[in-house]
Amino acid sequence: MIEIRNLCINPPLLLAPMAGLTHSVFRSLLMQLGGVGLLSTEMLSARRLPMENAAVSPFLVSTEEEHPLSYQLLVADKSHLAAAIDRVHQLGGDAIDLNLGCPAPQVRNFGGGSKLVDDTDHLRQLVAEARAHTSLPLTAKIRLGDQLDEARLKSLCRMLEGEGIDLLTVHARLRKEPFSRKPRWEWVGKVKKWLSIPVVTNGGIFSVEDGRRCLELSGADGLMLGRGAAIRPWLFHEIASELYGVNLPLLDVDRPAFYFYFVDQLEKRFRPERRLGRLKEFTHYFSKTYPFGLRLASAVQTSSSVEEARERAGIFFARSSSQPILA
Ligand SMILES: Cc1cc2nc3c(=O)[nH]c(=O)nc-3n(C[C@H](O)[C@H](O)[C@H](O)COP(=O)(O)O)c2cc1C
Repeated sequence: MIEIRNLCINPPLLLAPMAGLTHSVFRSLLMQLGGVGLLSTEMLSARRLPMENAAVSPFLVSTEEEHPLSYQLLVADKSHLAAAIDRVHQLGGDAIDLNLGCPAPQVRNFGGGSKLVDDTDHLRQLVAEARAHTSLPLTAKIRLGDQLDEARLKSLCRMLEGEGIDLLTVHARLRKEPFSRKPRWEWVGKVKKWLSIPVVTNGGIFSVEDGRRCLELSGADGLMLGRGAAIRPWLFHEIASELYGVNLPLLDVDRPAFYFYFVDQLEKRFRPERRLGRLKEFTHYFSKTYPFGLRLASAVQTSSSVEEARERAGIFFARSSSQPILA
């Protein structure tokens, strides 16, 4: 268990923020399967957040069951922080995360994500401003840096802790390293030794075995799962029971049932034009549990409506009922 301020993250298994994926429907699916300690939104523009309509915005729609829920802010200018944080308070958020790791050029170009770590003084002021404005747990998510540079990484992490960050998540890759590269979990072990706040490892955890190995190598206080949870939404349940001894109801991995729950809830919670893209994004990952999952992914990818995608998925599932779940 991780305790930060008044928040218990139990088990210490966190959902990674993922644009287009970690919305209300996906979070509800995970909550029903169990084993998640802290949910997350995708990155939310601090500038736009105050203007979003929470009743219909796919970034903000949320149900009672989706707790605890952390809101990740994408911010470049500290003048946007106060209003964005007020909005998170008003929405009933349980924690606030600062995105300090996103390497996407469109994010860096406006000064956000990993660009923030290039200017320590500016970042320090930004974190101080966020800290001064909330008593919620304030967390940050970083990558290892541009190059492997222990001194630089240590000074960044210590600065974040010093300015009041309550928990640090480290995506164990350098800024330009693709997701296909083996993560450097042992580097999170270094961060862990430098800090006294909880440190969470992220990157490349797709199975219970990965989780075990990652904990051994990093000595981290917890794990953050991203794509692994989109491929196998029951991965939290598995890791919680096998690595943390959480007593959860036995799991019936009924993949079509999970998928159709997802489609039904997209239709209930989101406006028509917001549904198909999210279904395609989820299917891209979820299809990977089937040996012939590419067929599901391309059938849905080429669908022009949710109805068509649902029908095509149904045909795929009917033909694939005996396909094993890929490890
Ligand atoms: C589709 C997608 C969207 C992502 N969006 C975000 C985001 O909004 N904020 C963020 O900090 N990281 C984002 N990431 C990075 C993930 O949070 C995570 O660091 C990365 O996927 C590595 O973890 P994994 O190997 O468990 O997937 C995204 C990753 C993916 C695949």
